[in-house]
Parts: sequence; structure tokens; C-alpha cells
Amino acid sequence: MSTTMRVWVNGDLVDPTGPALSALDHAVTVGDGVFETAKIVDGRPFALTRHHRRLSQSAAGLGLPPVDLGLVGKGVAAVLDGPEIEFGRLRYSVTGGIGPLGSDRDDASLTHIVIAGPQPRPPESGKLTVVPWTRNERSAVAGLKTTSYAENVVALARAKQAGAIEAVFANTRGELCECTGSNVFVVVDGVVLTPPADSGLLLGITRELTIEWARAAGVEVREEALPLDVLQSADEVFITSSTKDVLPIHAVDDRLLPGDHPVTSELLRVFRGNAERDADP
Ligand SMILES: Cc1ncc(COP(=O)(O)O)c(C=O)c1O
Repeated sequence: MSTTMRVWVNGDLVDPTGPALSALDHAVTVGDGVFETAKIVDGRPFALTRHHRRLSQSAAGLGLPPVDLGLVGKGVAAVLDGPEIEFGRLRYSVTGGIGPLGSDRDDASLTHIVIAGPQPRPPESGKLTVVPWTRNERSAVAGLKTTSYAENVVALARAKQAGAIEAVFANTRGELCECTGSNVFVVVDGVVLTPPADSGLLLGITRELTIEWARAAGVEVREEALPLDVLQSADEVFITSSTKDVLPIHAVDDRLLPGDHPVTSELLRVFRGNAERDADP
């Protein structure tokens, strides 16, 4: 575990690898919590307002009390008040706090955790692998960024074994859905297509900005249900996430994609330009 991380819990900076949470915290026992991951560039978090908004939505979706964003903000300031992180990750979580060992909840106070640390920049492109497990678009927590990420842990391990950067899930209807920590887009005949909210995906902040900025640049983007096998015929495939921005895909399992991907390159250029102009769009 990296000691270059700065960790803040419930108001105090703590030893990153020392004990800081109760063993009874409901996120530890049952995964009852929500979180956000934002990119840090030159010491500043990107798109924090949108991340805060989604954290509040995820908490409401889990039935947690409203999040004190002022307190979270103090944690963010505390972990960033150190050696400047040129490129890294800000991860903050709010959990159900100390609770019973089962899935029922006490009305204990929430646990707030904020962590910042450097991380390597993403590669220029990556491979995807399709995994046999599904996203459940009818799940009680569909679309919420909860700390119950064990399915993603298993799928990402499978992807790494296959030499891929991400694993792609279909939903229970067999439609293209998302990856473990990224959204997926395809380009077909010059049109950018991506699965819609009701496919069971997490509405990524990078997805949202990519769509907004692409449309503003005159590129047609449609959110629509897509068969999983569109990955076998699309002209271009790319994924989006907070730490990857817009990342071109050069292979989907055994299918190699062309090295030139003009639409993806254009969207990457548009994304980077807009992000450089405004760190909190
Ligand atoms: C399941 C899932 N889908 C998509 C994304 C991409 O979202 P964002 O662009 O907000 O990072 C994430 C982010 O980690 C995620 O966990």
C-alpha cells in the first residue's frame, strides 16, 4: 500500500495504513456506503461540483441521510494540502457509520473518508474483454456509486488476466452496458452511440461531459440501447472515466480495431481542451 496517500477520516488526517475506522462500520460489514473518484491534475481536483452532486444522489438512493458536503470539502482541502500531486486520484466516501452486523441500519452518524494520492497516467489506448457476468438494470442500487464493488473486483481481475484494461458487462437483457469503472461508447458510421441510463450503468461524469462537449462541437451523439455484439462491428470503440478521460480501444477480445480512430481522437482533443479551460465544468 502506497504511503504517498493522504487520508482524512471524520475531521482528522490519519496514518494511511494505520487503523482509522471501526470494524463495525457498515461499509466494512455490508458495503453500505457511497463514494466518488475524481481526477487530480496539478494539485486540483477536476469536476468536483458534479462529483459532489452525484455523491448526494447516490446517498439518497441508498437511503442515507443528506451528505454534509461542507465537511467533505474540509477533507478534500486537508488531503490536498501537501506536496502537489501532479496527476492522481481523489477518492471520497460516505458510509452508513457504525452499524449492526446485518443489513439493517442504526441511525448512527455517517463516516466520512477522503483520500488523495498520485497515480500513473493512463495508457494511450487499451483492450477490452467481455465478461460473462451481467449488470442488473433492475437492481435496487442500479446507477448508484456504492462501496459494494466486489463484482467489479472479480471482473477487473478477469480483464487483467486477459491483458485488457477493462471488462465490459452486458445487462440482463443482453445489451451493452458499461465496464467495471468506465462507460463505453462506439462509433458507427460517424455517429457516437452509448448505452442509456436505463441500461443499468453508472452515469459517469466523464460520459456526461463527453456527450455535452461532443454535441457542442457538432458531433452527433445518441444514447440508445445497443446489442452487446456492436463491439464486434463498430468502427471505433472508446471508454470514459475520471482518471482515463476518453480512452481509445484498440482491441475487443480477439477483434483488433483500426489504429486510426478519427472520431475518438476528435472527442479526446475536445475533452482535453475544455477540461484545461475549466477545472470545474
Ligand atoms: C461502474 C462505473 N461506471 C462508470 C464509471 C465512470 O464514471 P466517471 O466518469 O464519473 O469516473 C465509474 C467510475 O469509476 C464506475 O465505477
